[in-house]
Amino acid sequence: MSDDAALLRQAAARHAAGALEEAEALYAQLLARSPDDANALNLLGTLHRQRGELARALPLIRRAVTLRPEAPVFLASLGGALAEAGELEPAVAALRAALARRPDDAVALRNLGQALCGLGQARAALAPLRQAVKLAPHAAEPKLALAHACREAGALPEAIRMAEAALARPGPDPAVAAQARFLLAALGRAPMPERAPAAYVRDLFDQYAPRFEADLTGRLGYRTPAALAELLRDSGIAAAAALDVLDLGCGTGLSGVALAPFARRLEGLDLSPRMLAEAARQGCYAALHEADLLDFLPRHPAAFDLIAAADVLNYLGDLAPALAALRGALRPGGLALFSVELGEGEGGYALGPGLRYRHALPALRALCAEVGLAAVAERRDVLRLEQGSPVQGALMLLRQA
Ligand SMILES: C[S@@+](CC[C@H](N)C(=O)[O-])C[C@H]1O[C@@H](n2cnc3c(N)ncnc32)[C@H](O)[C@@H]1O
Repeated sequence: MSDDAALLRQAAARHAAGALEEAEALYAQLLARSPDDANALNLLGTLHRQRGELARALPLIRRAVTLRPEAPVFLASLGGALAEAGELEPAVAALRAALARRPDDAVALRNLGQALCGLGQARAALAPLRQAVKLAPHAAEPKLALAHACREAGALPEAIRMAEAALARPGPDPAVAAQARFLLAALGRAPMPERAPAAYVRDLFDQYAPRFEADLTGRLGYRTPAALAELLRDSGIAAAAALDVLDLGCGTGLSGVALAPFARRLEGLDLSPRMLAEAARQGCYAALHEADLLDFLPRHPAAFDLIAAADVLNYLGDLAPALAALRGALRPGGLALFSVELGEGEGGYALGPGLRYRHALPALRALCAEVGLAAVAERRDVLRLEQGSPVQGALMLLRQA
């Protein structure tokens, strides 16, 4: 075996054992003497991708593809990295090229299906995802991905079958099982959970982060942050940079930008590390926290003058714990500001078609009063479009009573 081959083997073994720093150093050593080693370039790129460093991963994997354009392994790797970076069209092209050369790559098939779903082409996603399920019959994840695609494509019986199959094997990953149950609940086949599983929300927004702002403000006509800021101003709260503000579910920071004029200090919190990385670029947050709002709020009693949640509470069904925790994190007389999607439902909420909860206004008003949040202002508004139809919502401003 040549020295290069031995070094690559050693690096790949450390990599597979999870010793990323050691593996990185060994790949770098190999590339210093053989800069055109396509395997080392691809593996080092993969290592950066594992760490979430896509800006470092992509040029390395691209170079591997340039050096060996026919190798399906590099094309598949490039497709996966592009999809993760939100570059879905080139991702689909790379994955299709990889699969043309190696049709039985179950991971590439799943990545292709998920990228097509992200592009709104759920019907086209079904064939690759069905094939991925066939190739990995014991794995729950491809079944869950197919179940989601079927739901989006309107193939509901298959969506139910696949979500049930994802649950059927003994011991699926608890996060996968919770997501399958959530999907079954949305399809009316399981009891409605009190909230969307945290892992589902995190994965959803991690995948969405690179495209979120363009999609929301463009295609989906999203203007909730500006509407919430308007409600504050119209209620006599001056944009005087005087308040300690917490932006719950801050996402990429669209809401932070709208809240910043009111804030002496603005903090953001989100479940999704990728959304938080985008939010950091806005430059308006003094601190960003990766946390579930239900864990964070009780640990910060009486800490904020204003707590806002723009388009966030729709990932929670039962709002009692969140609103009580929110009240507890406010200083005396502090303000709560949030949006909800409106709907009906026993117990005051129901799971809507987009896997978000919709809340009934009378029940929500009663709940706010119960936890000690007194109404200051309320406004009905169209929050955004969903499959071309307006989503009716309410904007609420309340004061700690
Ligand atoms: C639709 S985005 C809205 C982002 C931002 N507020 C805006 O208006 O652009 C919803 C965000 O809430 C976050 N989120 C949902 N449930 C959460 C929870 N329980 N704890 C923390 N963040 C949550 C998601 O990760 C996502 O980034």
